[in-house]
Amino acid sequence: MVRIVRATQAEIDEAVTALRDGELVAFPTETVYGLGANAQNPSAVQKIFEAKGRPTNHPVIVHLDSPRYLHRWVREVPATAQALAERFWPGPLTIVMARNPNVHDIVTGGQDTIAVRVPAHPMAQQLLTAFGGGIAAPSANRFGRISPTRAEHVRDEFGDAVRVVLDGGESQVGLESTIVACEPAGVRLLRPGAVTLAQLRQIVGDVQIGTLGAAPRVPGSTPIHYAPATPVTIVPADEIDTRAEDASEGGRRIAVLAQRLPLKTYPSVTWINAGRRADAYAHDLYANLRTLDKAGCEQILVQEVPGDEKWDAIRDRLLRGAAASEVESGDLAATGALGVMP
Ligand code: TXA
Ligand code: MG
Repeated sequence: MVRIVRATQAEIDEAVTALRDGELVAFPTETVYGLGANAQNPSAVQKIFEAKGRPTNHPVIVHLDSPRYLHRWVREVPATAQALAERFWPGPLTIVMARNPNVHDIVTGGQDTIAVRVPAHPMAQQLLTAFGGGIAAPSANRFGRISPTRAEHVRDEFGDAVRVVLDGGESQVGLESTIVACEPAGVRLLRPGAVTLAQLRQIVGDVQIGTLGAAPRVPGSTPIHYAPATPVTIVPADEIDTRAEDASEGGRRIAVLAQRLPLKTYPSVTWINAGRRADAYAHDLYANLRTLDKAGCEQILVQEVPGDEKWDAIRDRLLRGAAASEVESGDLAATGALGVMP
């Protein structure tokens, strides 16, 4: 695994200058790479939406180096948020709270809440501390596509459109942060991630599973999201071999993301064995999907992952990726995606 944890002073200076000039900077976090702009500069934040092709009513997360300036962004910090921040920050948890009224609408999508995260990646910390302010950043991918977990993924997506790309090696977690909303009525999980429901409940007791509707909008929770360009189909674990064999009949090119080796060699099948460990599977998931997406196949068959909680975030992303084509078992809402179908 490539581990580059610190940037040189020259790299940080360049990135900070770009942020102060209202330009975009891609930077590593432990979840995925972010596409950052000065959160206090609306025209800089506007550039994020243009680069991603993302609708401007979708709010972005504000990244801070520590909770010390949280009050600039948040109206008040609920006790639940305080407890979660103490336990999980810096780390892969985003907390949605009532916004401070002077936060720009483009950051919050005009909502009365704001999403805040303190990332743990040392290079993100270096950048945030040197910049001295909040960095608004969604994942550094084009709208609806797979999040980047390596600097080269960001360059593949954006080319020269992003002036500075800090290279921090492979994102350790590999999936986007867990998002919770801390509301007067209680805590709701809006997006599953590395911080699990059980871990959240240990700190704050009851946690509801988020739903859309009256809830804040979470575009990452639209069914079609996190999607490769090649159609994705989720296949029951014990059928992965027969399905690969059948689909590849006549030399049709098929990609497979499995958790074991194939039982035999199928000539036109590109098979990735992502293993049985959830953390390693998550770490490699987006890089694997990118590899399979580029393999020139007609479809990607994904072996259904186990049902236990440590696979929740992975299952959620796979289902959303598959929703771009279809989910075989029929109704998406019936598939058990944690989260939050409209
Ligand atoms: O791990 C992560 O969270 C990465 C890294 C870069 O921090 N960021 C990320 O950002 O995944 P993005 O924009 O791709 O996904 C953040 C999600 C979006 O679905 C957005 O709508 C939601 O957070 N969000 C932002 N502000 C919100 C708010 N006030 N209420 C509800 N959802 C919000
Ligand atoms: Mg995203």
